[in-house]
Amino acid sequence: LNFFATTPKGLELLLVEELKQLGATSAAEKLAGVEFSGDLRMAYKACLWSRLANRILLPLLKIPAATPDELYVGVQKISWDEHLDPAGTIYINFATSQSKINHTLFGAQKVKDAIVDQLRDKYNIRPNISRDQPDVAIHIYLYRDVATISLDLSGESLHRRGYRLDQVAAPLKENLAAAILLRAKWPEVAAKDGMLFDPMCGSGTLLIEAAFIAGKIAPGLQRQYHGFLGWKKHDNAIWQSLLTDANLQRVQNEKNIPPIVGYDRDPEAIKIAFANIDRAGLRGKIHVEKQALEAAQLTKKTSYGLLVTNPPYGERIGELSELQKLYPFLGQKLKTEFAGWRAAIFTANPDLGKTMGIRAERRYALFNGPIACQLLLFSITPEWFIDRSPAPTNERVIRKAQQYINDLQAPTDSIQMFSNRLQKNLKHINKWVKRENPQCYRIYNEDLPEYPVIIDYYDDNIIIQSFPAAKHVLNEIAYERVQQVLAVLPELLVIKPAKIYYYAYPQTADIENLFPNFNEKITHPPR
Ligand SMILES: C[S@@+](CC[C@H](N)C(=O)[O-])C[C@H]1O[C@@H](n2cnc3c(N)ncnc32)[C@H](O)[C@@H]1O
Repeated sequence: LNFFATTPKGLELLLVEELKQLGATSAAEKLAGVEFSGDLRMAYKACLWSRLANRILLPLLKIPAATPDELYVGVQKISWDEHLDPAGTIYINFATSQSKINHTLFGAQKVKDAIVDQLRDKYNIRPNISRDQPDVAIHIYLYRDVATISLDLSGESLHRRGYRLDQVAAPLKENLAAAILLRAKWPEVAAKDGMLFDPMCGSGTLLIEAAFIAGKIAPGLQRQYHGFLGWKKHDNAIWQSLLTDANLQRVQNEKNIPPIVGYDRDPEAIKIAFANIDRAGLRGKIHVEKQALEAAQLTKKTSYGLLVTNPPYGERIGELSELQKLYPFLGQKLKTEFAGWRAAIFTANPDLGKTMGIRAERRYALFNGPIACQLLLFSITPEWFIDRSPAPTNERVIRKAQQYINDLQAPTDSIQMFSNRLQKNLKHINKWVKRENPQCYRIYNEDLPEYPVIIDYYDDNIIIQSFPAAKHVLNEIAYERVQQVLAVLPELLVIKPAKIYYYAYPQTADIENLFPNFNEKITHPPR
């Protein structure tokens, strides 16, 4: 038999893999779905075990349907009494694209008439329409005036696992949450007994799906309703054996679920998450707690795991400015407290993701409903950290200056003059430093007109600021002198180049950023 599994855009390839693992004899990626083949057992298995599919369709017939009449006649080519009880209930889902019949309600109406008329003519009774859990759900996909008529074996979307009756604003669909976890390699992390932590868990979707994956729990096990249950060709023996097997797997593997923890700062979200966890039968297997991310402390307990989260989207007023702080904070937290972990951030604001200070190992484009999102995957090891420390820049500036002076091979009389002057200053200053122990002080203050720079000592750092050259001094000469100062300072002051900060012309704001209250703190030695 050939089937078609629908899925949100972006999940097709994952679904191909999943269906193959479940035993499909073939599986091919299509737009927003996967065509696959197998027996009826395979289709039931997909309904019970697919974490990614929305619906499992069994195509019955393809018909030309450029006009309503053509559609009506085509639908009646199927003997509907082979599939449904004339006194049962049906529902018709109609989707159309690039076709003359472009109104879904009208299309659905026409299909319903065709089925109802056929059965009434034959049995004198007609099926009723029920949107809610019909005995048989019929799916029509009209594309370029050709209609594919299918039975919807799932009946309603498989993302409805049955555990999430309450939700927070902007929840993740369950199958999208599962896709995020699979992309983030949660099965591998769980196999090594790594833990899972969602610091902004909302209604707990990622936590519950993670427990399902780690505990080999069939996501459809709790669904009471499936589209095939009221189908005349339903094979209950197959279905029951699959249920028995899934229950057994749950019992055998549930104990292997590693620690799973969720925080949210909203007490209402935690209440909802708790109720969902309970309904999913996972009480005691997932820990949720009202906590703000800012207070989260976890790695003390475990050295390996996956931090996965879906931060707010920044749509509410004031939220965006909060997020601008949250992302760098999250990045910092990851670097300092989650070394060795993996991380996955599902975000609608990928630009904010760049402010985390860690390079993403991979990114995937996905949608949360209509919202374009990205899944950013991180490996929390120093090689991925974006080094924002100024040390490499400082070292480069000094190296460049030394190279410049070397290449010039000019006489060194003038720099000798500067060195002598600085050494004289230091001799004087050192006595004062011993006596007063100041933390920040000026060691050179434009003492020689040829060298218009100021040099300060701030904790263990040296800050040099150069001033524009006097009018009569050529620019090249002024540049050369600054390079001379930079080149000799490490040796003169016995300090590492990384600790020398150079500012061409005083840039107070930049300096204050790195050295708080710079101007107030610098003291001047007595003359
Ligand atoms: C988009 S929702 C997450 C939805 C969740 N994935 C689900 O499926 O239900 C974002 C959540 O982050 C929480 N949140 C925002 N800022 C937080 C912070 N600083 N610390 C902890 N939680 C935070 C919000 O309360 C909200 O529940």
